[in-house]
Amino acid sequence: MSDFGQTRNSIGGKAINVEADLDRILFDEKTILRRLDELAAQISADYHDRELTVVAILNGSLIFMADLLRRIPLPLKLDCLSVASYHGALQSSGEVIFRQVAPPDVAGRHILLLDDILDSGATLNAIQERLETASPRSIRVCVLLRKIKPRTRVATADYVGFDIADEFVVGYGLDYMERYRNLPYIGVLRKELMPS
Ligand code: IMP
Ligand code: MG
Repeated sequence: MSDFGQTRNSIGGKAINVEADLDRILFDEKTILRRLDELAAQISADYHDRELTVVAILNGSLIFMADLLRRIPLPLKLDCLSVASYHGALQSSGEVIFRQVAPPDVAGRHILLLDDILDSGATLNAIQERLETASPRSIRVCVLLRKIKPRTRVATADYVGFDIADEFVVGYGLDYMERYRNLPYIGVLRKELMPS
């Protein structure tokens, strides 16, 4: 286990201990990277004869993307897409806002969408629908985490790092109010810290 959480940072003159904000750690860094080895091997085998275009959804997939792509020894192109769906709240608003003026060039390409987590599915659904209109050759979805819960929308992922219970998690790219993204592990945020 890294000593990241034990390190007391001083922000605004106030000592904080990020690990104290967590109920528990779900996946430590070693466990995440071991799983990324497997995911990368699977993706590399599936795309060995096709040129892959990765479209990473910012900001949540940033750290996942960096660690996963360095494990895929294929020629590939990388684009990023910036969307907002949460607006700081815990539940998806259902509305997805595209921050880009021009969407990535996906026409005729094999697209692998990367996102941090499949929750309600609203974000990935909206992005997939948008990209489909630009005639890609194929679209697959890869998420680090997938919450086990009933979904009203049909949202599927072709590659999944870990299935988790329906709890709010942070770290390794995932945020709560833009904090905790830089934790090297994934943990469950303490319920008292969130509005009920
Ligand atoms: P969805 O549209 O409900 O599937 O949510 C997608 C986005 O919501 C993700 O890309 C995350 O940014 C955010 N999100 C959903 N669940 C969590 C969580 O447990 N922790 C942090 N962010 C989350
Ligand atoms: Mg977020």
